[in-house]
Amino acid sequence: MRKPLIVGNWKMNNTTAESVDLTEKLKRLIKDMAVVEVVVAPPFTSLDKVRDAIKGSNIKLGAQNLFWEDKGAYTGEVSPLMIRDLDCEYVIIGHSERREYFKESDEIINKKIKAALRNKLKAIVCVGESLKEREEDKTMQVIESQVKKGLQGLSLSEAKELIIAYEPVWAIGTGRNATPAQANEVHTYIRKLLSQIFNEGIASNIKILYGGSVKPSNSAELMSEKEIDGALVGGASLEADSFAEIVRSACMV
Ligand code: 13P
Repeated sequence: MRKPLIVGNWKMNNTTAESVDLTEKLKRLIKDMAVVEVVVAPPFTSLDKVRDAIKGSNIKLGAQNLFWEDKGAYTGEVSPLMIRDLDCEYVIIGHSERREYFKESDEIINKKIKAALRNKLKAIVCVGESLKEREEDKTMQVIESQVKKGLQGLSLSEAKELIIAYEPVWAIGTGRNATPAQANEVHTYIRKLLSQIFNEGIASNIKILYGGSVKPSNSAELMSEKEIDGALVGGASLEADSFAEIVRSACMV
């Protein structure tokens, strides 16, 4: 049985004061919803303050990115050690915005995943096809390539700390979400790939989240699908009320 997981990816939003304010509101709204695992991923600059704000709550902390080396001359980068130092348990890797704007390749993403796991961070690995790729009927091909290259060389024990997020690029920030059936089809395929790469037992325990315009109005329907174990939420995680509604919908499954 996979416990539902809802992750709020705040992206490049919120000052430290805004981050704390949002966290305080969220804490109150979801305090009775312990059947769901809840993670917030604020920008790096807010991690310290949010870490303090979530103390004593059921909210966990995640980072949105990391560098693959533990330390050194890498101006502007943030290492897995620094993220762990702030009590992050999770890190998002390979988000499509990083693939697109920062040209992160599957090889880079693979190095980042290994760095996260080496440092005892749970890696939330994002995969997803573009609109063009979906229209050309290449969705499964793209997913297969991203999953296989991204997860290359991981041990079975490392695989236990993985979470996969299926985020079709055409659904991110567009208000256009994949239908529950479309998402479930890709999730089923991802789980099949995971059992080929690792084994069936490991694959059946890895959570697969859906991301892309998840809102209170569509989350229950998405989450009711067998292979959808939770959500990676962008825009709707910036409002405590809407994020809490999404968490509530995951309590029902
Ligand atoms: P939206 O929920 O704003 O579409 O963003 C999804 C996403 O990219 C989460 O990582």
